[in-house]
Amino acid sequence: MKNTAATIIGQKQSGEKITMLTAYDYTTACIADGCGINSILVGDSLGMVMLGYDTTLPVTMEDMLHHTKAVSRGAKNAFVVADMPFMSYQTSVYDAVTNAGRLIKEGGAQAVKLEGGAEVCEQIKAIVDSSIPVVGHLGLTPQSVNAFGGFKVQGKDYERAKRLIEDALKIQRAGACAVVLECIPAELAAIITEQLMIPTIGIGAGAHCDGQVLVYQDMLGLTQGHTPKFAKQFADVGALMRQGIAEYIEQTRASAFPAEEHTYSSDMQVIERLKKELSAR
Ligand code: KIV
Repeated sequence: MKNTAATIIGQKQSGEKITMLTAYDYTTACIADGCGINSILVGDSLGMVMLGYDTTLPVTMEDMLHHTKAVSRGAKNAFVVADMPFMSYQTSVYDAVTNAGRLIKEGGAQAVKLEGGAEVCEQIKAIVDSSIPVVGHLGLTPQSVNAFGGFKVQGKDYERAKRLIEDALKIQRAGACAVVLECIPAELAAIITEQLMIPTIGIGAGAHCDGQVLVYQDMLGLTQGHTPKFAKQFADVGALMRQGIAEYIEQTRASAFPAEEHTYSSDMQVIERLKKELSAR
């Protein structure tokens, strides 16, 4: 059954945890979808984990469309949410609706995600009014890394915690169908989760959220360099890849690969005739 904005809201109501994972390509989307994940996020984190940038800021609409199309082709049942990249919605309500529309129409996503609270409510409302489900994103919103002065836990003092609760309520009022809470204290995430009718999906926001999301490279041991404290490693796919690639190099160098079973053969009469013709030249 295809997961939708309505089914994930239903999961909050029934108390069934929502599972979300990032994917950026067809193969990963097929695997995650086949495992029964509820939702796939084509995150703008692709700028860092797929394209090698230091932040998500350089990611373009064309990057997001390219990866969203691939994921949409692989996600048969998962609810596909595509991130709106930096400056694709902050600039105007018109830009927000136009770019959200492209991610749905050209990318094949079922919803878009954008970062921010009160300051983007007009954009959220206009996108929702265009019949496009919107997922909000609060807390450590990576597109604001320069304003935050780094990737830091958010909402630790009273004023900022209160603002996050108010922002979550405003996003809900603007029509968002869910909200990602990134890198905030677990107790604050629990209050927001209790206050909202729409589901909270946490990443570094504790166990009381209605669901969890992780960047797949982090949870599969594929991340190059630092992984955040909240990113539990569920498997070491990186080690398996390194082992497989090292074996391939070794066997190729030793002419042990390809073996008979990996090789096509020809009718020997054809080969003999070719050889004869060539030697007669
Ligand atoms: O871009 C992304 O992958 C995200 C998740 C970290 C929630 O926004």
